[in-house]
Amino acid sequence: MSPPRPTELAHLILRGIIHEGDLLIDATTGNGHDTVFLAELAGERGRVLAFDIQDHAIQSARSRVETAGFSDRVDFHLKSHAEMAGHAEPGTVAAVMFNLGYLPGEDHQLTTEEYETLAALTTATTLLKPGGILSVVCYPGHDAGMIEAAAVESWASTRTAEGWRVAKYAMLGTLRPAPFLILLSKP
Ligand SMILES: C[S@@+](CC[C@H](N)C(=O)[O-])C[C@H]1O[C@@H](n2cnc3c(N)ncnc32)[C@H](O)[C@@H]1O
Repeated sequence: MSPPRPTELAHLILRGIIHEGDLLIDATTGNGHDTVFLAELAGERGRVLAFDIQDHAIQSARSRVETAGFSDRVDFHLKSHAEMAGHAEPGTVAAVMFNLGYLPGEDHQLTTEEYETLAALTTATTLLKPGGILSVVCYPGHDAGMIEAAAVESWASTRTAEGWRVAKYAMLGTLRPAPFLILLSKP
């Protein structure tokens, strides 16, 4: 097997820790690829909360989830992930996925933003249960993404002081700064 891309590695890791019946969050649902992935792992007894600020993205994700046959497992929220606290009890979520940036081929202005991302990540840490995983794919290949990626990496590094296990994974030898995956495991 060749080294996986960060998005693929996120799936490989999450596959190992998510169980049927889990409560899961897709914080940036986009076209719904991660939402379908999470809904499959959540199983019939599980639930996925999916957030995006773009109506267009929610519609696209909803259609992908319907085609996969998982509509009854996913709650879509047309709102910022910074508002996820109102939708799950603290300490109840098994995994939260962030895939930052903008939708490929769409308006680059509709991108995740540093301060809102950090606020949402902090909220996600409270919603996760012990042993839960926070997965964040960062895109430093464009200007705003580089600032956001650096802020996320710095934020994640400081979680180690609270006992979190934190890791970073990136491809090497790319022309532009490569996307990278940050994984945090809650103590
Ligand atoms: C790289 S795309 C996500 C791709 C998606 N995971 C998939 O599988 O197709 C990033 C998404 O984050 C969304 N987004 C930007 N700011 C957001 C926010 N504050 N809250 C929730 N979603 C946001 C964008 O609208 C965009 O759809």
